[in-house]
Amino acid sequence: MKWDYGECNPLSSLTGSYFNQIKAITTVIDNIVNLSPLTEVGSYSATSLPHPDNFFDAVFTDPPYYDNFPYSDLSDFFYVWFKRTIAHIYPELFTTSITPRSKEIIENLSLLRGMPKEKAIEIKKTYLKTKDFFEKNLKKSFQEIYRVLKPNGIATVVYAHQSTPGWETLINSLLDSGLVVTASWPIHTERKARQRAQSSAALASSIYMIARKMERKETGWLNEVKDEIKGYIYEKLERLWQEGISGADYYIAAIGSSIEIFGKYEKVMDYEGNIIRADKLLDFVRDVVTDYAVRQILHNGIAGELSPLTKFYILWRWTYKEASVPFDDARKLAQSTGIDLAKEWNKGFIKKEKEFIKVLGPQDREEELALMPNAQSLMPELIDVLHHVLILWKEGKRDEMKEVLAETGWGNKDAFYRVAQAISETLPLESKEKKLLDGFLAGKERLITEVKQTTIQRRLFE
Ligand SMILES: C[S@@+](CC[C@H](N)C(=O)[O-])C[C@H]1O[C@@H](n2cnc3c(N)ncnc32)[C@H](O)[C@@H]1O
Repeated sequence: MKWDYGECNPLSSLTGSYFNQIKAITTVIDNIVNLSPLTEVGSYSATSLPHPDNFFDAVFTDPPYYDNFPYSDLSDFFYVWFKRTIAHIYPELFTTSITPRSKEIIENLSLLRGMPKEKAIEIKKTYLKTKDFFEKNLKKSFQEIYRVLKPNGIATVVYAHQSTPGWETLINSLLDSGLVVTASWPIHTERKARQRAQSSAALASSIYMIARKMERKETGWLNEVKDEIKGYIYEKLERLWQEGISGADYYIAAIGSSIEIFGKYEKVMDYEGNIIRADKLLDFVRDVVTDYAVRQILHNGIAGELSPLTKFYILWRWTYKEASVPFDDARKLAQSTGIDLAKEWNKGFIKKEKEFIKVLGPQDREEELALMPNAQSLMPELIDVLHHVLILWKEGKRDEMKEVLAETGWGNKDAFYRVAQAISETLPLESKEKKLLDGFLAGKERLITEVKQTTIQRRLFE
């Protein structure tokens, strides 16, 4: 655990204040107490419930989010005080010295990060929970939901995770439990102002999935399932776009929707007889979303004219803004635009820093761009030229800027300005890159005329 700042100011008189928090909590407790004849609160592991089969009309669950939170570590902070103050009222809840861990369903490999080998081996024996552990136990708890749910009952599963492994594990566990997802929608549940949302690519929404006990078709054939996903997802993507869902949330919502399709089958197979697991299908879903999103961000039209690197850049800004992102997620995004990340990093705007990838903006590349020749070849990478031009614009070097635009050929291309506009639209108002882009684009019409003249003059001299 690392020390972090509080997310609200207890001294303020606004929503986050100490007294408002107490009020909110007591309102919840009052409501629960009023429900008490109907309510029975229990503490069990979700992997083995004490209820009979076909018992509940509905089950609502908010399962653990893979490796996002070490719930028991965080609970210990309160547990030790509760144990001293209320353990005499609920002795059965406070039998252990700290929060019980063995049945906790999480992935906690991050415990090993930066740890010396001998220590890591020791930790591995006692505390380590792998992806496999998470998936197996989540599956057990979904199987329990299946068991206790009435045949026409309804289950709601809330989940939020940014990474593909985080989703693969959830999807595999759900599919293996027999529950069938029949609908899924993103709901904005996170506050924009919270600390984590400021510097990371944190999600704003959680996905709510509705699942039922239904007969599933035995086998779905990969090609047909892909067509089915495509047909279904385009409609859904359109709707999500209109609802204003964007960036990482958009991908996650699309993933949720695709489960509605491939979850209808007990297994999905290709024609060679291989069983296709969720990770393969998720790669495909990403490709479909990328294609759709690039066209939407660019307001249709020019996506076909752009290089994979340009598409990657636009999509990155839209998905992750200016955040550093774990390598594996960055690789998936790159793959869906057709680039091999390992071949591109540390050459231009893609930077690898330990296990994270960052996509540099013009303001991060001033030194590198100052050394850049105006044009090594006609039409070099659009993004490099755009960054170079933005720095020249910032420094007030208008003639040099026009030279670069004319010499590379990009200054006479509509696509160049449309890409600049699209990138600006993906960025938050306070972004330095956005400010540069908007400043540059404000004088676009005059600039285009001047670049045309520069181009003609250059041809006359040649
Ligand atoms: C995403 S949180 C739920 C948060 C809750 N909805 C709330 O608003 O406070 C997941 C919860 O699952 C609990 N959990 C982990 N393993 C469990 C298990 N085997 N059985 C029951 N709950 C478990 C975690 O302790 C954590 O409180």
